[in-house]
Amino acid sequence: MTLSKQFFPLLFLFLFIFPLQHATNPKTCSSSFWGSLLNKCERFGVSIRFPFCGHAGFSLHCTNFNKTVIELPMSGTFLVHRINYLKQQISLKDPQGCMVKRLLSFNTSGSPFSPRFNVYYTFLTCRKEVLMPSWYPPIHCLSNSTSSFFATSNLTLANSMLPSCQIVKRVAVPVNVPFEDNGFSTVINVLDLLLEWSSPNCSGCEKHSLRCGFKNKASLEVKCFDDESGHLSASLVLIIALCTIGGFSIFVCIAMSVYHSERFIFHRSAAVATRALPQQPRRVLVTTTGLDQSTIESYKKVKLGESRRLPGTNGIICPICLSEYAKTETLRCIPECDHCFHVECIDVWLKIHGSCPICRKTLMLSTL
Ligand SMILES: *[C@@H]1O[C@H](CO)[C@@H](O)[C@H](O)[C@H]1NC(C)=O
Ligand SMILES: *[C@@H]1O[C@H](CO)[C@@H](O)[C@H](O)[C@H]1NC(C)=O
Ligand SMILES: *[C@@H]1O[C@H](CO)[C@@H](O)[C@H](O)[C@H]1NC(C)=O
Ligand SMILES: *[C@@H]1O[C@H](CO)[C@@H](O)[C@H](O)[C@H]1NC(C)=O
Ligand SMILES: *[C@@H]1O[C@H](CO)[C@@H](O)[C@H](O)[C@H]1NC(C)=O
Repeated sequence: MTLSKQFFPLLFLFLFIFPLQHATNPKTCSSSFWGSLLNKCERFGVSIRFPFCGHAGFSLHCTNFNKTVIELPMSGTFLVHRINYLKQQISLKDPQGCMVKRLLSFNTSGSPFSPRFNVYYTFLTCRKEVLMPSWYPPIHCLSNSTSSFFATSNLTLANSMLPSCQIVKRVAVPVNVPFEDNGFSTVINVLDLLLEWSSPNCSGCEKHSLRCGFKNKASLEVKCFDDESGHLSASLVLIIALCTIGGFSIFVCIAMSVYHSERFIFHRSAAVATRALPQQPRRVLVTTTGLDQSTIESYKKVKLGESRRLPGTNGIICPICLSEYAKTETLRCIPECDHCFHVECIDVWLKIHGSCPICRKTLMLSTL
């Protein structure tokens, strides 16, 4: 009986307190044990560690669709496909699958990233009447009933299409390896953009599988840390994973861990916490971390016009649901940082988290 008294608080700790701690503090670098266990996006492929832990310019966030995304100041939101920590490279995809449209206004300035290789592409529109060989495929997402959109890195070919076609723009495309098309390309529309970052430079630590971090708060110099805690974390993750296999084994495992850790530091405080909390601790804790309706209502709404012009540096895609804003939709902007979102997306978010989903700025209750 005394055993069950000890392990119910512990069960509570596992099921409620730790997930909530993480939910209210999504910035937590997932090199920590709880971070890696609970980071929802990380379970879907992209491994997230320093400097992608809310460090300026590197903050990632996880959408409701379990996708990791990054916002470039001048170019908006992109899906993060892969991060190569050893080469310090990140590959990005367009959430809407129309990369050419994003390339028309792509610019990495203001971000810590820069292209590794650029291939210069020429974008053209040709009226549908212009006879094109059938092996020249247009880019469908930018073509319409009267004109087709083409892309090629072969300038000779692009120039040979004039004057029946019009050059829309010549853009630098940050690709993996330089190449030249012999015809028109549709691959470019589904291509990953490859960018790299030079600072902070952690390749030295990565090479030796060491954890990387800043030397101290003031400097931008990095140093490697021994990753003993990382190995410990990995084994703990394994233990927890085994524990969750089957309802029976979780009880056995937790009972055992209680038995073996009389000095487990959290247990006493958790026991006190459980007694102090009312019947539905989970709901109560969630509501106290978010904003109340009147504070949310006090944030200004912006109705988009025909031009879909957004205030400030906001992109054309809602960072929460990843859909493009439509004409006449209503957005809500957070006054502290001027980041905007669909009203229905941000209202739900703010009720749960008291912070901006992009910059993580903590927001104040107006009634306090
Ligand atoms: C995201 O992942 C969770 C499980 O971790 C799953 O329950 C949920 O359905 C996923 N959401 C989407 C939109 O795939
Ligand atoms: C990107 O933006 C910066 C700053 O606004 C500007 O100086 C630069 O020319 C732009 N680059 C391209 C390729 O448009
Ligand atoms: C089709 O696209 C061309 C070029 O992008 C544009 O000039 C034209 O107005 C569009 N036509 C229709 C019917 O949307
Ligand atoms: C570029 O286009 C021209 C004209 O169509 C063609 O002769 C040339 O071979 C192309 N270049 C490459 C590298 O394919
Ligand atoms: C990072 O530093 C290493 C030496 O430790 C150097 O070889 C490498 O080129 C640097 N990487 C970048 C992207 O600056």
